[in-house]
Amino acid sequence: MIYLDNAATTLRKPPSVVAAVAEAMGSLGNDGRGTHRGSLTAARMIYGAREKLAALFGCPRADHVVFTCNATEALNIALHGGIDRGAHVISTDWEHNSVLRPLYRLARERDVSLSFLPADDQGRLDYDALPRLLRPETRALVCTHGSNVTGNLADLARLGAFARAHGLRFFVDASQTAGVFPIDMGRLGIDVLCFTGHKSLLGPQGTGGLCLAEGVELRPWKVGGSGVQSYLETQPPALPTRLEAGTLNGHGIAGLSAALDFLRDVGPETIRRHEQALARRFYERVAALPEVTVYGDFSGERAAVVSLNIGGMDSGEAADLLETEYAIATRPGAHCAPRMHRCLGTEARGAVRFSFGWYNTEAEADAAAEAVEALAR
Ligand code: ALA
Repeated sequence: MIYLDNAATTLRKPPSVVAAVAEAMGSLGNDGRGTHRGSLTAARMIYGAREKLAALFGCPRADHVVFTCNATEALNIALHGGIDRGAHVISTDWEHNSVLRPLYRLARERDVSLSFLPADDQGRLDYDALPRLLRPETRALVCTHGSNVTGNLADLARLGAFARAHGLRFFVDASQTAGVFPIDMGRLGIDVLCFTGHKSLLGPQGTGGLCLAEGVELRPWKVGGSGVQSYLETQPPALPTRLEAGTLNGHGIAGLSAALDFLRDVGPETIRRHEQALARRFYERVAALPEVTVYGDFSGERAAVVSLNIGGMDSGEAADLLETEYAIATRPGAHCAPRMHRCLGTEARGAVRFSFGWYNTEAEADAAAEAVEALAR
């Protein structure tokens, strides 16, 4: 199989990640639930992973890195815990349902009002519209770093500066970029950064989290066992326990920690260049085909994603043919990003997304381009 669905999850992981999970399965106790060797082994490993993530994202404190089971859980914690009743929130047309559905729920249940920074038919955000969207009760700006449909990247420096200038809390969803693109929370003015472990961080599924800037307080979204302060009726107030009820996915975090070592050793820039070169190579061939429509802004730096449609074919049918005739794995449909597809005019048939990763090769990018050429013919 030629695996080109890395934006959904990276299927191939570094061998060190697989080994770390296997080792953890036989050695980890429960972090914070005892002082025996198993529990301390888990606690030390998990704290080490927090330190690596804090360093990667410019998060000021390792204890402000909170683990969750995925970016969706992190975003639910961030948005439900950080947006007050009656607030107005600015988000964007790029957002995934992991941002949209929590926001829509807040609108229904907590009188939160929403505005969306619009995108055009190539997915470009209209940053000049930001001042128009601002209201006296605006409290937050929520944006994904990279569109999971087009691969376009948001100008986080510009958004962060706008948020700072207007006293807005700045939430960023880094699901499509964490580990590959540099993100410095301090420099970009990010208050809450949400990430998943199983995509470009190359870790196991079931890992993710959020990083909080100093002084950012979130109400716990879930409460329960923490291993400490058992007689308190409320969730213990200190981070990260405040936002981490229940046993963590220690086995997964062990894999994520090994993945962070792998990323550090290879270098995010090396990985980024490799993925981008493959996506560009594929893009240049398919964009030249008159029957193919490619979506997104290819004029500058972008994530290694190329979404397209072929003639009048439904995206699901095209992806099925790619899988059955050419053994190429892609993702068709709406990609959980309904507003984005409306902007692109692809609401009815979706688009076929090719997303490249560290383990892909030039030969695979060429084979994918040849398959698209054949389907176009
Ligand atoms: N959000 C993931 C994707 O874009 C699953 O495919």
